Amino acid sequence: MINTCIFDAYGTLFDVAAAAREAAAEPGQEALAQVWPTLAANWRRKQLEYSWLRAVARQHVDFWQVTGDGLDWAMEASGLNDAALRERLLALYWELSAYPEVPKMLATLKERGMNTAILSNGSPAMLDAAVKSAGLSDLLDDVLSVETVGVYKPHDLVYEMVESRFVCERNEVLFVSSNGWDAAGASKFGYRTAWVNRNGDPMDRLYAAPEWVLTDLSTIPDLI
Ligand code: LAC
Repeated sequence: MINTCIFDAYGTLFDVAAAAREAAAEPGQEALAQVWPTLAANWRRKQLEYSWLRAVARQHVDFWQVTGDGLDWAMEASGLNDAALRERLLALYWELSAYPEVPKMLATLKERGMNTAILSNGSPAMLDAAVKSAGLSDLLDDVLSVETVGVYKPHDLVYEMVESRFVCERNEVLFVSSNGWDAAGASKFGYRTAWVNRNGDPMDRLYAAPEWVLTDLSTIPDLI
């Protein structure tokens, strides 16, 4: 029986495209408005690639550094050379919007007595800011950051943090991620997993498949 629900943060609870989308709608951002979907996709892709490459090369720096490095690559690729825009995008990323169904979904899990937490690549400071700005602090028992173990997902040391923090067996943990590779890592580790596939992407060809594939987070309480 599931007693612990663990969520990935970026892309799962928080909309990582929101920073570029919101900045593009601001006055004076015509250049960004032309390219923001490409910028957002490249920013995310490079952020993740850098996290994996740094894990393999054992060259860890925290996720805020990786996020800035990914943004620099993406801005250069889109021909955007604008220090003020860089600062604005990072400020919006610091306080990313949560997907609209998140508060109610977490509140329902708490009503049912579930342990709830985030397990994320994010640094403690950036996760704290995002959780507070989205008003989720009271709905989460803990926010677990990879900074405790100094390596990024999908390293097993990261998934182990859940069973160290909560009284649970691996098959009592539901791990929820919008990242197929993250769901695969948690499945391989022994957690029960739900992949939130908002964009109808193909399933990643990796070492383990998710038990559930969802289109958003609203049906998570139905899995318990
Ligand atoms: C996280 C990244 C994978 O929050 O989105 O861990």
